[in-house]
Amino acid sequence: MGKREKRIEYLRKRKVDIRKFYIEEEKMGFIQFLDHEGTFSMKQPENYNYLYFPIAGEKGIKGAVSPNLGGDIKLNQNAFLMEPVSVENLHNNRSVRNFWCRVEGKGIWSAVGASAEEECRKFTKEQDDSEVTAGFMWHTITRQSKKYQLKSTIESFVPLGHNVEIMHVTIENTGADASEITPVAAIPVFGRSADNIRDHRHVTSLLHRIRTEEYGVLVKPTLSFDERGHQKNQLTYFICGVTGTGEKPVSFYPVTENFIGEGGSLTHPRAVLLDLPGMKAGEAVEGKEALGGIRFAKAVLQPGESVSYTVVLGITDKPEEIDEVMASYDKEAKVAAARNEVETYWKEKVNVGYHTGNIEMDSFMRWVSFQPFLRRIYGCSFLPHHDYGRGGRGWRDLWQDCLSLLIMDPGDVRQMILDNYGGVRIDGTNATIIGEHQGEFIADRNGIARVWMDHGVWPFMTTKLYIDQTGDIEILKEKAAYFKDEQKERGTSLDKEWDTAYGVKQKTEDGTVYQGTILEHLLLQHLCSFYEVGAHNHIRLRGADWNDALDMASENGESVAFTCAYAGNLNDLADLLDVLEIRFGWKQIELLQEIQVLLRDEVATYEDIDAKHALLKEYLESCGHNVSGKTVQVEVSSLAKNLRHKAAWMQEHIRKTEWIQGKDENQEEGWFNSYYDNHKQAVEGYFESGVRMMLTGQVFSIMSRTALKEQVAKICKSADRYLYRKEAGGYRLNTNFHEEKFDLGRMFGFAYGEKENGAVFSHMTVMYANALYQRGFVKEGHIALSTLAENALNFETSKIYPGIPEYFDASGRGLYHYLTGAASWYMLTYITEVFGVKGKLGALTVNPKLVKEQFDRDGNALLTLRFADKSFRIQIKNPEKLDYDAYKVKEAVCDDHIVLTKDENGVSLSKEAITGLDGSIHTITVTLGA
Ligand code: G1P
Repeated sequence: MGKREKRIEYLRKRKVDIRKFYIEEEKMGFIQFLDHEGTFSMKQPENYNYLYFPIAGEKGIKGAVSPNLGGDIKLNQNAFLMEPVSVENLHNNRSVRNFWCRVEGKGIWSAVGASAEEECRKFTKEQDDSEVTAGFMWHTITRQSKKYQLKSTIESFVPLGHNVEIMHVTIENTGADASEITPVAAIPVFGRSADNIRDHRHVTSLLHRIRTEEYGVLVKPTLSFDERGHQKNQLTYFICGVTGTGEKPVSFYPVTENFIGEGGSLTHPRAVLLDLPGMKAGEAVEGKEALGGIRFAKAVLQPGESVSYTVVLGITDKPEEIDEVMASYDKEAKVAAARNEVETYWKEKVNVGYHTGNIEMDSFMRWVSFQPFLRRIYGCSFLPHHDYGRGGRGWRDLWQDCLSLLIMDPGDVRQMILDNYGGVRIDGTNATIIGEHQGEFIADRNGIARVWMDHGVWPFMTTKLYIDQTGDIEILKEKAAYFKDEQKERGTSLDKEWDTAYGVKQKTEDGTVYQGTILEHLLLQHLCSFYEVGAHNHIRLRGADWNDALDMASENGESVAFTCAYAGNLNDLADLLDVLEIRFGWKQIELLQEIQVLLRDEVATYEDIDAKHALLKEYLESCGHNVSGKTVQVEVSSLAKNLRHKAAWMQEHIRKTEWIQGKDENQEEGWFNSYYDNHKQAVEGYFESGVRMMLTGQVFSIMSRTALKEQVAKICKSADRYLYRKEAGGYRLNTNFHEEKFDLGRMFGFAYGEKENGAVFSHMTVMYANALYQRGFVKEGHIALSTLAENALNFETSKIYPGIPEYFDASGRGLYHYLTGAASWYMLTYITEVFGVKGKLGALTVNPKLVKEQFDRDGNALLTLRFADKSFRIQIKNPEKLDYDAYKVKEAVCDDHIVLTKDENGVSLSKEAITGLDGSIHTITVTLGA
């Protein structure tokens, strides 16, 4: 069934009268993939209100474009070229990159579809036909007007060579008669900090100094009003234009109020309607809301003839270089070359490829793999679904984004990991304000301590993957400083002796910066958490855990979920220590003397909450200001045992106290309680208002192996029964508590089914899948993972361009698209669990967990990726078309002659063998059979 038929079928099912909706039906688009690289197209995208697409470069300029080219462009929080927008501004067509054509004898046409006239034509037969085509970092929209007999093609991208956004507009006469057009680009210039969208909105327009120059409009405000106070401004915001053959514009409309005219608007501007002349180059205006209004010379287009214009949007502290920038794009061919460069660059940057039985899935995975790059560029703040913050990423994001880099761009990851450890404090907590540069952490000047109790978990997960992918265990011995600010004792007290002169690096008594090994940093993160327990002897929730919205139980809340995660890490760390000892001969490691307290290994202390607190206090007080700097040697083998004891105790304690046995007839259900609230009450179980179950506790009890195998099966049953909703996109984060539980977090204030309150939150669903795959629950993991993809790809409900959104709301719509930690985890799970391709201390291992339908018609699946600086095609052949539980790896060879070693964990190619391979592409063929 084709897409159109599917759509009709869908409308029929929903009992929609198809004839009545003929126009809409014709006008509604579908995502169509055009190749294996993820390039897609879609008709009439402007008929969906919340679509946006990222275009950015690596030099700082980042934009979002909606189908009508709305959306903003900025460098950072304090430098927005276009007005900062959220999704609700996207459909008002105000702040758009407009491009008008005044058509002699006919009227004025917006080539981007943002006009009052076009709004009235929507959903009628007269509506412009439009189609978007897009790939990584490029966006092309075409629009055909019936009334004006003109077609526009607008390409948007950020070139590699300059920190600007390019908008290249081609106008073609598709009519039978000659057409005389006057083109006018009209882009409102905000030119200031996002903070001024409301605060000082008018006063900050008074700061504007606007000039018209030969190519366009330049706005250089005198001051910047932002959170840093009033600063002398150094930036120039500019919108310039040139024709495709190099002609400069003829005049300019630099002031919004003059352009729209009294009573006019940006979708019905009087200057274009009345053909008012613009200002010449070389003029200046002060204190007005500015507009990049650029009028080009009249053009007469014969039938079939076309003409093009290039609009350049930018922010610079070197306005003298704008002419040079314009000269780089003053011919159509130059723009085309720059555009092609962008396409190639990003395609290559995302250097993983997928081939399964499902081309849509393969394309989807390309977008998912691209998303971590977007998150590095946009943080969590700079696309129209503004998640939080002022542009930065949080601690968690920092570490998670490394996961995908380890697969796609591992070159700099070692240094990145080392630098990031510099954010850990000696008390095991970490800096939460992350600077612009790698390894830069900023002291919290507000003195508001907030400790997210999950923060200690992520660095080890990333470091472990790093060690497995590279075999570089030496990194554990590398030294890094500790972060130091006014916070001490895990944010419960202030170090009054500290001041900015001390600096943000932990010092010893003699005033030198103390450096400890990465292993020591890891130990501190885990050991300090181990002792920081609440009334039920699980680690305290503090400010929140992964779920940022569990932020109202800081006194008594406990996170059983992340206690599991810490226990899992302690075990994995112990395993790693064993390897260090046995395979690499490490006997002892050096640790800060004070840490010895934390290494006491007495079960009696583990049981005794007060004793734990006293012990932690002893340690924290010993290093509240400076550390001694003295070190001790600790046996690697006894350290491993020590960590195992702690982990085992935590896990046993959770198994004993937190298991909720299902009340179903067949006793097939059951799950773990994930949290305690501020009233010290367990959060999950059977309540009068219904069953309360949360996904997070299940994910980490499964992943950490706290849940025994039979418990995993019961958890799956319960999750399927209480959390799974196919129409919403998969497993929800929690059931409906029917209570505004302000003794746990703000999430309960959100409508049920939204964001952290019971949405299908991609990140946690992916981690659920990952945990299930790790434990061998392949079918279950596959369902969790594939429903997310199916839902995202089902445009009917998700209403997003390809990729994984942060979450799906109750109706299945995808929100907070692109910028989500889920992308890194999805990609990682797909590669390391589904395809089963992962590093093991530098060796490449393959242990596929693909289910039958993931192979193509011939029973093949293919993954291309880089590993240890070599390119691989990993071909999985399943000639008998068996399902996961029926196949085994029969044989595996690299380049038809190197036989891979086989054991119960699949096949592997040794580190040495990989080193011996040359720079060409190597094919590993893994053959499966019964
Ligand atoms: C967002 C935050 C992430 C947090 C999560 C749950 O998720 O960025 O740090 O853990 O909400 O509150 P994301 O957008 O990464 O999926």
